[in-house]
Amino acid sequence: MPFDPADSAFLDDPYPTFSALRALGPVHEHPMLGMPVAVSHAACSEVLRGRSLGRIWADAQPAAEFPTFNLLHRNSLLEREGEPHDRLRTLVAGAFNRGHTARLEPAVSALADRLVAELAVQVRHTGSADLMAGVAHVLPVEVIAELLGLPESVRPRLRGWSTAIVAMYEPDPDGRRRARSETASAEFVDALREVIAHRREHPGDDLMSDLVAADLDAERRGGAPVSTDELVGTAALLLMAGHEATVNVIGNGVLALLRHRAQWQRLVADPGLSATAVEELIRFDPPLQLFERTALRDTTVAGHGVPAGTKVAALLGAAAHDPQIFDDPAELDVGRRRNPHLGFGAGVHYCLGAPLARLEVAAVLDALRRRLPGMVLAAPPRRRPDFVMRGLRDLRLAT
Ligand code: HEM
Repeated sequence: MPFDPADSAFLDDPYPTFSALRALGPVHEHPMLGMPVAVSHAACSEVLRGRSLGRIWADAQPAAEFPTFNLLHRNSLLEREGEPHDRLRTLVAGAFNRGHTARLEPAVSALADRLVAELAVQVRHTGSADLMAGVAHVLPVEVIAELLGLPESVRPRLRGWSTAIVAMYEPDPDGRRRARSETASAEFVDALREVIAHRREHPGDDLMSDLVAADLDAERRGGAPVSTDELVGTAALLLMAGHEATVNVIGNGVLALLRHRAQWQRLVADPGLSATAVEELIRFDPPLQLFERTALRDTTVAGHGVPAGTKVAALLGAAAHDPQIFDDPAELDVGRRRNPHLGFGAGVHYCLGAPLARLEVAAVLDALRRRLPGMVLAAPPRRRPDFVMRGLRDLRLAT
């Protein structure tokens, strides 16, 4: 077996295992995950870009226990291919192109600054503070709530809903996690239906209002309309995709900088490195480690046969440390010039929120650089026991 995704030593540092596997070949059968896994950059890129492979949603089973979890995903553009995917992606990309990232920039910077300032006060008063609880978990969810124009009444519940839903993405979640995920989906869907109904009557300057308006416009022009379930699935995707990964880039990224102190000092001394630093943090310890595809017909990945209807996975963390593509991949280099990482995916499902995510991570780094330039680890961080969504439970900082 190539590796055990639940083994804590592996989760602590999966990269040596990935390197050893890559040295043996680009694709390996993984009996525990029940599919072959691609570990080289080229093979992962083939998995993500290959047109004979697709994201084919299979309802969580037994389907009667997951009506809303399945409804959310069945209607999400991330889980679809062909016409529905392209129609929904065009709608979301069009709404994003109406300047939402630029609209949010001042608010993101101000929020990052306020949260880090509060963290710095806590460090001064009590000796240490948790970056995850104080900043990483708070900023991305607030930004998505703002992006979608969600009312204050639902905002405090978003994080809990999202965390409960994405727990189902890990291999073999237990019964409690499965039940929580359905309950959270049902509550979230109810809240989104209300927001969508409200926005149809009272449009605002948020992305949800743009999605509703663009849909009406398409309908007027004779294009295929978007169902309310699809709008709900899209909004839910934006919360989950747009929030969980960003939380963990902030946590994993700051930990990497503190463990490679010279790189942190380099960034503190030269804010001009911010853009390359953000890309490097996403490469160095990606927050999303595994993406699956299903073969639409008999196909191959790096010469490895994938029969029609079976699955294959891309291990993004393994691709990110491939020495064929990256010079000294085990080194963190905040000024790395050539960095074609796959952290935001590739091909038709390439991340629609990448510009917003970059803005958020850069804003947090900038606030830390100004307010806590001398930060150090106050205690060894605790890791979440998850493999697909790679992140920390806490990251206590001191000065
Ligand atoms: C650093 C943070 C982020 C990372 C690392 C990330 C990564 C990814 C990856 C790897 C995919 C492709 C999945 C696949 O190919 O199966 C993806 C898709 C997507 N992401 Fe992100 N993402 C981040 C932040 C965001 C944000 C902030 C948003 C929105 C506000 C967002 C929205 C989306 C959407 C809508 C898709 C689906 C696109 C499609 O299916 O066509 N992401 N993301």
